[in-house]
Amino acid sequence: MSKNFYITTPIYYPSAKPHMGHAYSSIIADFFARFKRIDGFNVHFLTGTDEHGLKIQRAAEKNNIDPLKFCDEISQTFKNLSKKLNLTNTDFIRTTEKRHKDSVQFIWKELEKNDDIYLSKYSGWYSVSDEAFYNEDEIEEDNGIKIASVSKSPVEWMDEESFFFRLSKWEKPLLEFYKNNPDFIQPESRKNEVISFVENGLKDLSVSRKSFSWGIKVPNNDDHVIYVWLDALTNYISALNYPNKNDELFKRFWPASIHLIGKDILRFHAIYWPAFLLAAKIELPKKVYGHGWILSGDEKMSKSKGNILDPIEIVDKYGIDPLRYYLVKEVSFGNDGNISQKRLEDCINSDLANNYGNLCQRTVSFVLKNCDKKVPETINFKDEDMKILNKFSINIENIRSQIDKQNINYYINFIVDSLFDANKYFNDQEPWKKKDDQTRLNTIIYTTLEIIRKISFMLYPIIPETSLKALNIFNIKEDDIIFSTISNHEYLKPGLEIKSINILFKKIEKEND
Ligand code: MSP
Repeated sequence: MSKNFYITTPIYYPSAKPHMGHAYSSIIADFFARFKRIDGFNVHFLTGTDEHGLKIQRAAEKNNIDPLKFCDEISQTFKNLSKKLNLTNTDFIRTTEKRHKDSVQFIWKELEKNDDIYLSKYSGWYSVSDEAFYNEDEIEEDNGIKIASVSKSPVEWMDEESFFFRLSKWEKPLLEFYKNNPDFIQPESRKNEVISFVENGLKDLSVSRKSFSWGIKVPNNDDHVIYVWLDALTNYISALNYPNKNDELFKRFWPASIHLIGKDILRFHAIYWPAFLLAAKIELPKKVYGHGWILSGDEKMSKSKGNILDPIEIVDKYGIDPLRYYLVKEVSFGNDGNISQKRLEDCINSDLANNYGNLCQRTVSFVLKNCDKKVPETINFKDEDMKILNKFSINIENIRSQIDKQNINYYINFIVDSLFDANKYFNDQEPWKKKDDQTRLNTIIYTTLEIIRKISFMLYPIIPETSLKALNIFNIKEDDIIFSTISNHEYLKPGLEIKSINILFKKIEKEND
Protein backbone atom coordinates (compact mmCIF):
# COMPACT_ATOMS: atom_id res chain seq x y z
CA MET A 1 0.00 0.00 0.00
CA SER A 2 1.27 3.45 -0.88
CA LYS A 3 2.52 5.47 2.06
CA ASN A 4 2.13 8.81 0.28
CA PHE A 5 -0.57 11.24 1.23
CA TYR A 6 -1.40 14.40 -0.68
CA ILE A 7 -3.89 16.77 0.89
CA THR A 8 -4.95 20.17 -0.40
CA THR A 9 -6.96 23.06 0.95
CA PRO A 10 -8.66 25.35 -1.53
CA ILE A 11 -6.43 28.19 -2.62
CA TYR A 12 -7.88 31.30 -1.03
CA TYR A 13 -9.06 34.44 -2.75
CA PRO A 14 -6.74 37.05 -1.39
CA SER A 15 -8.89 39.18 0.90
CA ALA A 16 -7.35 41.55 3.37
CA LYS A 17 -8.95 39.90 6.38
CA PRO A 18 -8.97 36.12 6.40
CA HIS A 19 -11.85 34.84 8.55
CA MET A 20 -12.67 31.84 10.66
CA GLY A 21 -14.10 29.89 7.69
CA HIS A 22 -10.68 30.09 6.02
CA ALA A 23 -8.94 29.14 9.24
CA TYR A 24 -11.28 26.18 9.66
CA SER A 25 -10.52 24.65 6.25
CA SER A 26 -6.79 24.96 6.89
CA ILE A 27 -6.79 23.68 10.46
CA ILE A 28 -8.73 20.57 9.52
CA ALA A 29 -6.36 19.91 6.62
CA ASP A 30 -3.43 20.34 8.98
CA PHE A 31 -5.00 17.87 11.38
CA PHE A 32 -5.10 15.19 8.66
CA ALA A 33 -1.60 16.06 7.45
CA ARG A 34 -0.14 15.74 10.93
CA PHE A 35 -2.02 12.54 11.68
CA LYS A 36 -0.82 10.89 8.49
CA ARG A 37 2.73 12.04 9.17
CA ILE A 38 2.81 10.43 12.61
CA ASP A 39 1.32 7.35 11.02
CA GLY A 40 4.32 6.94 8.75
CA PHE A 41 3.14 8.61 5.52
CA ASN A 42 5.09 10.99 3.28
CA VAL A 43 2.79 13.95 3.35
CA HIS A 44 2.46 16.72 0.84
CA PHE A 45 0.17 19.46 2.08
CA LEU A 46 -0.69 22.28 -0.28
CA THR A 47 -2.35 25.61 0.28
CA GLY A 48 -2.04 28.98 -1.43
CA THR A 49 -3.82 31.91 -3.03
CA ASP A 50 -6.09 32.19 -6.06
CA GLU A 51 -5.10 35.50 -7.56
CA HIS A 52 -6.69 35.98 -10.98
CA GLY A 53 -10.12 36.98 -12.24
CA LEU A 54 -12.45 39.92 -12.33
CA LYS A 55 -13.04 39.86 -8.57
CA ILE A 56 -9.36 40.49 -7.86
CA GLN A 57 -8.98 42.96 -10.73
CA ARG A 58 -11.88 45.01 -9.33
CA ALA A 59 -10.57 44.85 -5.78
CA ALA A 60 -7.17 46.10 -6.97
CA GLU A 61 -8.78 48.89 -8.99
CA LYS A 62 -10.80 49.93 -5.95
CA ASN A 63 -7.58 50.21 -3.99
CA ASN A 64 -5.90 52.00 -6.85
CA ILE A 65 -3.10 49.49 -7.00
CA ASP A 66 -1.66 47.21 -9.63
CA PRO A 67 -3.31 43.75 -9.31
CA LEU A 68 -0.03 41.90 -8.87
CA LYS A 69 1.13 44.29 -6.17
CA PHE A 70 -2.24 43.93 -4.50
CA CYS A 71 -1.89 40.13 -4.57
CA ASP A 72 1.74 40.26 -3.36
CA GLU A 73 0.62 42.06 -0.24
CA ILE A 74 -2.47 40.08 0.47
CA SER A 75 -1.04 36.69 -0.34
CA GLN A 76 1.44 37.47 2.41
CA THR A 77 -1.42 37.82 4.92
CA PHE A 78 -2.39 34.22 4.14
CA LYS A 79 1.20 33.08 4.53
CA ASN A 80 1.27 34.83 7.89
CA LEU A 81 -2.02 33.20 8.83
CA SER A 82 -0.55 29.76 8.03
CA LYS A 83 2.20 30.44 10.56
CA LYS A 84 -0.22 31.77 13.12
CA LEU A 85 -2.38 28.64 12.79
CA ASN A 86 0.71 26.45 13.10
CA LEU A 87 0.06 24.78 9.75
CA THR A 88 2.58 22.32 8.37
CA ASN A 89 1.90 22.94 4.70
CA THR A 90 4.80 21.78 2.56
CA ASP A 91 4.07 24.24 -0.25
CA PHE A 92 2.22 27.50 -0.73
CA ILE A 93 1.25 28.17 -4.31
CA ARG A 94 0.28 31.47 -5.87
CA THR A 95 -1.53 31.32 -9.19
CA THR A 96 0.53 34.27 -10.42
CA GLU A 97 3.71 32.16 -10.28
CA LYS A 98 5.34 31.04 -13.52
CA ARG A 99 5.20 27.34 -12.62
CA HIS A 100 1.43 27.63 -12.38
CA LYS A 101 0.86 29.75 -15.48
CA ASP A 102 2.89 27.34 -17.62
CA SER A 103 0.96 24.42 -16.30
CA VAL A 104 -2.44 26.06 -16.96
CA GLN A 105 -1.50 26.97 -20.52
CA PHE A 106 -0.32 23.43 -21.05
CA ILE A 107 -3.57 21.89 -19.83
CA TRP A 108 -5.49 24.31 -22.05
CA LYS A 109 -3.53 23.07 -25.06
CA GLU A 110 -4.26 19.48 -24.08
CA LEU A 111 -7.98 20.23 -23.94
CA GLU A 112 -7.78 21.95 -27.29
CA LYS A 113 -5.80 19.12 -28.83
CA ASN A 114 -8.43 16.64 -27.69
CA ASP A 115 -11.18 18.76 -29.25
CA ASP A 116 -12.71 19.73 -25.94
CA ILE A 117 -12.57 23.48 -26.58
CA TYR A 118 -14.41 25.59 -29.17
CA LEU A 119 -15.12 29.28 -29.74
CA SER A 120 -18.67 30.64 -29.37
CA LYS A 121 -20.57 33.32 -27.48
CA TYR A 122 -21.71 33.34 -23.84
CA SER A 123 -24.90 35.10 -22.85
CA GLY A 124 -25.97 34.54 -19.29
CA TRP A 125 -25.65 35.33 -15.62
CA TYR A 126 -22.29 35.61 -13.89
CA SER A 127 -21.43 36.28 -10.26
CA VAL A 128 -18.11 38.02 -9.86
CA SER A 129 -18.08 37.30 -6.15
CA ASP A 130 -18.39 33.52 -6.77
CA GLU A 131 -16.61 33.70 -10.16
CA ALA A 132 -19.39 31.41 -11.35
CA PHE A 133 -21.96 31.16 -14.14
CA TYR A 134 -25.58 30.51 -13.23
CA ASN A 135 -28.58 29.25 -15.19
CA GLU A 136 -31.81 31.25 -15.26
CA ASP A 137 -33.44 28.83 -12.77
CA GLU A 138 -30.60 29.45 -10.29
CA ILE A 139 -31.34 33.18 -10.04
CA GLU A 140 -33.74 35.05 -7.73
CA GLU A 141 -34.49 38.67 -6.96
CA ASP A 142 -33.76 40.49 -3.74
CA ASN A 143 -35.05 44.07 -3.55
CA GLY A 144 -34.85 44.39 -7.31
CA ILE A 145 -31.32 42.97 -7.45
CA LYS A 146 -30.66 39.69 -9.23
CA ILE A 147 -28.79 37.24 -7.03
CA ALA A 148 -27.66 33.61 -7.22
CA SER A 149 -30.05 31.53 -5.07
CA VAL A 150 -27.31 29.30 -3.72
CA SER A 151 -24.82 31.94 -2.56
CA LYS A 152 -27.03 35.08 -2.47
CA SER A 153 -24.30 36.97 -4.34
CA PRO A 154 -25.30 39.53 -6.97
CA VAL A 155 -25.09 38.43 -10.59
CA GLU A 156 -24.54 40.45 -13.74
CA TRP A 157 -25.49 39.73 -17.32
CA MET A 158 -22.60 38.72 -19.50
CA ASP A 159 -22.64 38.77 -23.25
CA GLU A 160 -19.33 38.09 -24.94
CA GLU A 161 -17.30 35.90 -27.22
CA SER A 162 -15.91 33.01 -25.22
CA PHE A 163 -14.19 29.69 -25.57
CA PHE A 164 -16.27 26.78 -24.32
CA PHE A 165 -15.27 23.50 -22.76
CA ARG A 166 -17.35 20.50 -23.90
CA LEU A 167 -18.59 19.68 -20.42
CA SER A 168 -21.72 18.01 -21.82
CA LYS A 169 -19.55 15.34 -23.45
CA TRP A 170 -18.34 14.25 -20.00
CA GLU A 171 -21.76 13.82 -18.40
CA LYS A 172 -21.91 10.03 -18.83
CA PRO A 173 -18.23 9.35 -18.07
CA LEU A 174 -18.61 11.39 -14.86
CA LEU A 175 -21.69 9.47 -13.75
CA GLU A 176 -19.86 6.25 -14.53
CA PHE A 177 -16.88 7.44 -12.51
CA TYR A 178 -19.04 8.36 -9.49
CA LYS A 179 -20.64 4.91 -9.67
CA ASN A 180 -17.31 3.10 -9.79
CA ASN A 181 -15.73 5.28 -7.12
CA PRO A 182 -18.37 5.61 -4.43
CA ASP A 183 -16.01 7.41 -2.07
CA PHE A 184 -14.97 10.07 -4.56
CA ILE A 185 -17.45 12.66 -3.26
CA GLN A 186 -17.97 12.85 0.48
CA PRO A 187 -19.93 13.22 2.66
CA GLU A 188 -22.68 11.02 1.28
CA SER A 189 -25.40 13.71 1.32
CA ARG A 190 -23.30 16.02 -0.83
CA LYS A 191 -22.53 13.22 -3.26
CA ASN A 192 -26.23 12.80 -3.98
CA GLU A 193 -26.60 16.53 -4.69
CA VAL A 194 -23.78 16.40 -7.21
CA ILE A 195 -25.05 13.28 -8.92
CA SER A 196 -28.53 14.67 -9.37
CA PHE A 197 -27.09 17.92 -10.74
CA VAL A 198 -25.13 15.97 -13.35
CA GLU A 199 -28.08 13.71 -14.12
CA ASN A 200 -30.15 16.79 -14.89
CA GLY A 201 -27.80 17.48 -17.78
CA LEU A 202 -24.54 19.39 -18.12
CA LYS A 203 -24.18 22.33 -20.46
CA ASP A 204 -20.87 23.27 -22.04
CA LEU A 205 -18.90 25.65 -19.87
CA SER A 206 -17.57 29.06 -20.81
CA VAL A 207 -13.85 28.93 -20.03
CA SER A 208 -12.44 32.23 -21.23
CA ARG A 209 -13.20 35.93 -20.78
CA LYS A 210 -12.57 38.77 -23.19
CA SER A 211 -13.80 41.82 -21.28
CA PHE A 212 -10.94 42.05 -18.77
CA SER A 213 -7.30 41.14 -18.76
CA TRP A 214 -6.26 40.00 -15.25
CA GLY A 215 -5.67 36.31 -15.85
CA ILE A 216 -3.62 33.77 -17.72
CA LYS A 217 -3.77 34.35 -21.47
CA VAL A 218 -5.34 31.73 -23.70
CA PRO A 219 -2.41 30.27 -25.68
CA ASN A 220 -2.16 31.90 -29.10
CA ASN A 221 -5.01 34.28 -28.42
CA ASP A 222 -4.12 37.35 -26.37
CA ASP A 223 -7.68 38.68 -26.43
CA HIS A 224 -8.90 36.05 -23.97
CA VAL A 225 -7.93 35.13 -20.44
CA ILE A 226 -8.60 31.66 -19.09
CA TYR A 227 -11.63 31.27 -16.77
CA VAL A 228 -10.39 31.65 -13.23
CA TRP A 229 -11.71 28.28 -12.05
CA LEU A 230 -9.93 26.34 -14.80
CA ASP A 231 -6.87 28.35 -13.82
CA ALA A 232 -7.31 27.85 -10.05
CA LEU A 233 -8.16 24.14 -10.03
CA THR A 234 -5.01 23.36 -11.97
CA ASN A 235 -2.97 24.52 -8.97
CA TYR A 236 -3.32 21.05 -7.49
CA ILE A 237 -1.12 19.65 -10.24
CA SER A 238 1.01 22.67 -11.10
CA ALA A 239 2.32 22.44 -7.54
CA LEU A 240 3.53 18.92 -8.44
CA ASN A 241 5.31 20.25 -11.54
CA TYR A 242 2.72 19.15 -14.08
CA PRO A 243 3.09 18.85 -17.10
CA ASN A 244 6.22 16.94 -16.18
CA LYS A 245 4.50 13.69 -15.25
CA ASN A 246 7.90 12.13 -14.63
CA ASP A 247 8.71 14.63 -11.94
CA GLU A 248 9.29 13.01 -8.54
CA LEU A 249 6.58 15.08 -6.88
CA PHE A 250 4.00 14.26 -9.53
CA LYS A 251 4.83 10.57 -9.53
CA ARG A 252 4.75 10.37 -5.79
CA PHE A 253 1.69 12.45 -4.97
CA TRP A 254 -0.72 12.39 -7.89
CA PRO A 255 -3.57 11.44 -7.75
CA ALA A 256 -4.25 13.52 -4.64
CA SER A 257 -5.52 11.59 -1.64
CA ILE A 258 -8.04 14.29 -0.78
CA HIS A 259 -9.12 17.75 -1.82
CA LEU A 260 -10.61 19.23 1.31
CA ILE A 261 -12.99 22.06 0.46
CA GLY A 262 -16.06 23.90 1.72
CA LYS A 263 -19.42 22.73 0.41
CA ASP A 264 -19.91 25.97 -1.56
CA ILE A 265 -17.23 25.00 -4.05
CA LEU A 266 -18.19 21.36 -4.49
CA ARG A 267 -19.55 21.78 -8.00
CA PHE A 268 -16.20 23.07 -9.22
CA HIS A 269 -14.26 20.25 -7.59
CA ALA A 270 -16.58 17.33 -8.14
CA ILE A 271 -17.81 18.14 -11.65
CA TYR A 272 -15.62 20.63 -13.52
CA TRP A 273 -12.26 19.48 -12.18
CA PRO A 274 -12.72 15.76 -12.90
CA ALA A 275 -14.14 16.63 -16.33
CA PHE A 276 -11.06 18.77 -17.15
CA LEU A 277 -8.83 15.95 -15.95
CA LEU A 278 -10.69 13.31 -17.96
CA ALA A 279 -10.40 15.51 -21.03
CA ALA A 280 -6.68 16.08 -20.45
CA LYS A 281 -6.16 12.35 -19.80
CA ILE A 282 -4.92 12.84 -16.26
CA GLU A 283 -5.87 10.54 -13.41
CA LEU A 284 -8.61 11.78 -11.10
CA PRO A 285 -8.07 12.60 -7.40
CA LYS A 286 -9.18 9.95 -4.95
CA LYS A 287 -11.55 12.06 -2.94
CA VAL A 288 -13.24 15.43 -2.71
CA TYR A 289 -14.63 16.20 0.74
CA GLY A 290 -17.01 19.16 1.08
CA HIS A 291 -17.12 20.25 4.71
CA GLY A 292 -19.80 22.46 6.23
CA TRP A 293 -19.70 26.15 6.97
CA ILE A 294 -18.76 28.06 10.04
CA LEU A 295 -21.86 30.06 10.75
CA SER A 296 -22.36 33.33 12.47
CA GLY A 297 -25.93 33.23 13.72
CA ASP A 298 -27.68 31.36 10.90
CA GLU A 299 -25.56 32.72 8.10
CA LYS A 300 -22.32 31.65 6.47
CA MET A 301 -19.49 33.71 7.90
CA SER A 302 -18.10 35.80 5.08
CA LYS A 303 -16.52 39.12 4.36
CA SER A 304 -19.38 40.31 2.16
CA LYS A 305 -21.86 39.68 5.01
CA GLY A 306 -19.71 41.56 7.52
CA ASN A 307 -20.10 38.88 10.22
CA ILE A 308 -16.52 37.78 10.53
CA LEU A 309 -14.87 36.35 13.62
CA ASP A 310 -11.20 37.18 13.19
CA PRO A 311 -8.97 34.12 13.74
CA ILE A 312 -5.95 36.32 14.45
CA GLU A 313 -7.74 38.12 17.27
CA ILE A 314 -8.91 34.81 18.72
CA VAL A 315 -5.42 33.32 18.57
CA ASP A 316 -3.95 36.41 20.21
CA LYS A 317 -6.49 36.23 22.98
CA TYR A 318 -6.63 32.47 23.70
CA GLY A 319 -3.65 30.89 21.90
CA ILE A 320 -3.66 28.69 18.83
CA ASP A 321 -4.21 25.30 20.44
CA PRO A 322 -7.52 26.18 22.13
CA LEU A 323 -8.83 27.44 18.78
CA ARG A 324 -7.66 24.32 16.95
CA TYR A 325 -9.16 22.04 19.59
CA TYR A 326 -12.42 23.93 19.62
CA LEU A 327 -12.88 23.86 15.84
CA VAL A 328 -12.05 20.17 15.61
CA LYS A 329 -14.29 19.20 18.50
CA GLU A 330 -17.26 21.49 18.39
CA VAL A 331 -17.97 21.73 14.68
CA SER A 332 -19.35 18.33 13.79
CA PHE A 333 -17.25 17.65 10.73
CA GLY A 334 -19.25 17.64 7.50
CA ASN A 335 -22.04 19.77 8.98
CA ASP A 336 -22.36 23.50 9.50
CA GLY A 337 -21.32 24.74 12.90
CA ASN A 338 -22.14 27.80 14.91
CA ILE A 339 -19.20 29.05 16.92
CA SER A 340 -19.01 31.39 19.88
CA GLN A 341 -16.37 32.65 22.25
CA LYS A 342 -18.41 31.39 25.17
CA ARG A 343 -18.29 27.81 23.94
CA LEU A 344 -14.59 28.19 23.17
CA GLU A 345 -14.02 29.27 26.78
CA ASP A 346 -16.08 26.31 28.05
CA CYS A 347 -13.88 24.00 26.00
CA ILE A 348 -10.71 25.50 27.43
CA ASN A 349 -11.95 25.21 31.00
CA SER A 350 -13.48 21.78 30.89
CA ASP A 351 -11.69 19.66 28.31
CA LEU A 352 -8.31 21.29 28.12
CA ALA A 353 -7.61 22.69 31.58
CA ASN A 354 -9.62 20.26 33.73
CA ASN A 355 -9.44 16.98 31.88
CA TYR A 356 -6.10 17.07 30.08
CA GLY A 357 -4.05 19.75 31.86
CA ASN A 358 -5.01 18.58 35.30
CA LEU A 359 -4.35 14.92 34.59
CA CYS A 360 -0.82 15.74 33.42
CA GLN A 361 -0.21 18.13 36.30
CA ARG A 362 -1.37 15.94 39.15
CA THR A 363 0.34 12.81 37.83
CA VAL A 364 3.66 14.58 37.39
CA SER A 365 3.43 16.17 40.85
CA PHE A 366 2.79 12.74 42.30
CA VAL A 367 5.79 11.21 40.51
CA LEU A 368 8.06 14.05 41.57
CA LYS A 369 7.06 13.57 45.19
CA ASN A 370 6.64 9.83 45.44
CA CYS A 371 8.54 8.08 42.66
CA ASP A 372 11.98 9.61 42.85
CA LYS A 373 11.21 11.77 39.75
CA LYS A 374 11.38 8.68 37.54
CA VAL A 375 9.16 6.36 35.54
CA PRO A 376 8.59 3.66 38.17
CA GLU A 377 10.22 0.22 37.98
CA THR A 378 8.75 -3.07 39.31
CA ILE A 379 5.36 -3.11 37.68
CA ASN A 380 2.71 -5.76 37.82
CA PHE A 381 -0.31 -5.01 35.63
CA LYS A 382 -3.73 -6.15 36.85
CA ASP A 383 -6.96 -6.46 34.88
CA GLU A 384 -8.09 -2.93 35.66
CA ASP A 385 -4.80 -1.55 34.29
CA MET A 386 -4.86 -3.69 31.16
CA LYS A 387 -8.46 -2.76 30.51
CA ILE A 388 -7.70 0.93 30.18
CA LEU A 389 -4.44 0.35 28.28
CA ASN A 390 -5.93 -2.15 25.86
CA LYS A 391 -8.56 0.29 24.72
CA PHE A 392 -5.83 1.88 22.61
CA SER A 393 -4.41 -1.28 21.09
CA ILE A 394 -7.81 -2.80 20.38
CA ASN A 395 -8.97 0.34 18.58
CA ILE A 396 -5.88 1.30 16.63
CA GLU A 397 -7.05 -0.09 13.28
CA ASN A 398 -10.48 1.37 13.81
CA ILE A 399 -9.02 4.80 14.52
CA ARG A 400 -7.05 4.63 11.27
CA SER A 401 -10.02 3.58 9.23
CA GLN A 402 -12.24 6.26 10.77
CA ILE A 403 -9.61 8.85 9.86
CA ASP A 404 -9.65 7.54 6.30
CA LYS A 405 -13.38 8.18 6.31
CA GLN A 406 -12.73 11.70 7.66
CA ASN A 407 -14.64 10.75 10.78
CA ILE A 408 -12.99 13.38 12.94
CA ASN A 409 -15.87 13.15 15.40
CA TYR A 410 -14.92 9.57 16.19
CA TYR A 411 -11.30 10.55 16.74
CA ILE A 412 -12.03 13.43 19.09
CA ASN A 413 -14.67 11.47 21.00
CA PHE A 414 -12.15 8.69 21.51
CA ILE A 415 -9.78 11.20 23.09
CA VAL A 416 -12.45 12.82 25.23
CA ASP A 417 -13.60 9.40 26.52
CA SER A 418 -10.02 8.32 27.16
CA LEU A 419 -9.36 11.45 29.20
CA PHE A 420 -12.49 10.83 31.21
CA ASP A 421 -11.48 7.18 31.80
CA ALA A 422 -7.94 8.17 32.75
CA ASN A 423 -9.07 10.71 35.35
CA LYS A 424 -11.56 8.21 36.73
CA TYR A 425 -8.91 5.48 36.85
CA PHE A 426 -6.52 7.73 38.77
CA ASN A 427 -9.25 8.72 41.25
CA ASP A 428 -10.57 5.19 41.70
CA GLN A 429 -7.13 3.62 42.12
CA GLU A 430 -6.14 6.19 44.76
CA PRO A 431 -2.36 5.82 44.41
CA TRP A 432 -1.88 8.19 47.39
CA LYS A 433 -3.33 5.42 49.60
CA LYS A 434 -0.95 2.75 48.24
CA LYS A 435 2.23 4.00 49.82
CA ASP A 436 2.67 0.71 51.69
CA ASP A 437 2.32 -1.35 48.46
CA GLN A 438 5.08 0.04 46.25
CA THR A 439 4.44 -2.35 43.33
CA ARG A 440 0.78 -1.38 43.16
CA LEU A 441 1.61 2.31 43.45
CA ASN A 442 4.24 1.95 40.72
CA THR A 443 1.84 0.12 38.44
CA ILE A 444 -0.92 2.72 38.79
CA ILE A 445 1.52 5.52 38.09
CA TYR A 446 3.14 3.70 35.19
CA THR A 447 -0.28 3.03 33.66
CA THR A 448 -1.35 6.65 34.06
CA LEU A 449 1.90 7.92 32.52
CA GLU A 450 1.47 5.54 29.59
CA ILE A 451 -2.05 6.83 29.03
CA ILE A 452 -0.87 10.43 29.17
CA ARG A 453 1.72 9.56 26.53
CA LYS A 454 -0.80 7.83 24.27
CA ILE A 455 -3.36 10.60 24.57
CA SER A 456 -0.69 13.23 23.95
CA PHE A 457 0.36 11.36 20.79
CA MET A 458 -3.25 11.39 19.63
CA LEU A 459 -3.67 15.03 20.57
CA TYR A 460 -0.61 16.07 18.60
CA PRO A 461 -2.47 16.55 15.28
CA ILE A 462 -5.01 18.75 17.06
CA ILE A 463 -3.00 20.71 19.62
CA PRO A 464 0.62 20.23 18.55
CA GLU A 465 2.22 22.87 20.75
CA THR A 466 0.62 21.70 23.96
CA SER A 467 1.00 18.03 23.24
CA LEU A 468 4.75 18.61 22.82
CA LYS A 469 4.85 20.52 26.10
CA ALA A 470 3.19 17.58 27.81
CA LEU A 471 5.46 15.05 26.11
CA ASN A 472 8.44 16.97 27.34
CA ILE A 473 7.76 15.28 30.69
CA PHE A 474 9.29 12.19 29.06
CA ASN A 475 11.74 14.15 26.93
CA ILE A 476 9.79 12.97 23.85
CA LYS A 477 10.34 15.20 20.80
CA GLU A 478 8.21 15.79 17.72
CA ASP A 479 10.05 13.26 15.56
CA ASP A 480 9.54 10.57 18.19
CA ILE A 481 5.77 10.69 17.87
CA ILE A 482 4.71 7.53 16.08
CA PHE A 483 1.03 6.72 16.14
CA SER A 484 1.45 2.93 16.01
CA THR A 485 3.19 3.02 19.40
CA ILE A 486 -0.11 3.71 21.15
CA SER A 487 -0.54 -0.04 21.21
CA ASN A 488 2.77 -0.55 22.99
CA HIS A 489 1.94 -0.56 26.71
CA GLU A 490 5.58 -0.68 27.80
CA TYR A 491 6.89 2.21 25.73
CA LEU A 492 8.12 4.24 28.68
CA LYS A 493 11.42 2.98 30.00
CA PRO A 494 11.40 2.38 33.77
CA GLY A 495 13.94 4.68 35.41
CA LEU A 496 13.48 7.44 32.79
CA GLU A 497 13.65 10.85 34.42
CA ILE A 498 10.32 12.70 34.60
CA LYS A 499 10.56 16.43 34.06
CA SER A 500 8.36 18.97 35.77
CA ILE A 501 5.59 20.61 33.79
CA ASN A 502 4.12 24.10 33.68
CA ILE A 503 0.40 24.70 33.57
CA LEU A 504 -0.78 23.63 30.10
CA PHE A 505 -3.97 25.69 29.94
CA LYS A 506 -4.95 28.60 32.12
CA LYS A 507 -8.59 28.55 33.11
CA ILE A 508 -10.63 31.47 31.83
CA GLU A 509 -12.32 33.50 34.54
CA LYS A 510 -15.84 34.00 33.26
CA GLU A 511 -17.88 37.08 34.09
CA ASN A 512 -21.04 35.25 35.10
CA ASP A 513 -19.30 32.34 36.84
N1 MSP B 1 -10.54 30.61 -4.52
C1 MSP B 1 -11.59 29.69 -4.31
C2 MSP B 1 -11.08 28.27 -4.19
C3 MSP B 1 -10.31 27.78 -5.38
S1 MSP B 1 -9.74 26.16 -5.13
C4 MSP B 1 -9.13 25.67 -6.61
C5 MSP B 1 -12.36 30.04 -3.03
N2 MSP B 1 -11.71 30.82 -2.15
S2 MSP B 1 -12.36 31.36 -0.79
O1 MSP B 1 -11.32 32.14 -0.17
O2 MSP B 1 -13.59 32.03 -1.05
O3 MSP B 1 -12.71 30.13 0.09
C6 MSP B 1 -11.71 29.23 0.47
C7 MSP B 1 -12.29 28.10 1.31
O4 MSP B 1 -12.80 28.64 2.53
C8 MSP B 1 -13.43 27.35 0.65
O5 MSP B 1 -13.28 25.95 0.90
C9 MSP B 1 -14.63 27.84 1.34
O6 MSP B 1 -15.64 26.87 1.36
C10 MSP B 1 -14.06 28.05 2.74
N3 MSP B 1 -14.90 28.93 3.49
C11 MSP B 1 -15.17 30.26 3.23
N4 MSP B 1 -16.10 30.67 4.14
C12 MSP B 1 -16.44 29.64 4.95
C13 MSP B 1 -17.15 29.51 6.13
N5 MSP B 1 -17.85 30.50 6.64
N6 MSP B 1 -17.09 28.32 6.78
C14 MSP B 1 -16.28 27.29 6.38
N7 MSP B 1 -15.57 27.38 5.29
C15 MSP B 1 -15.85 28.44 4.40
O7 MSP B 1 -13.46 29.57 -2.87
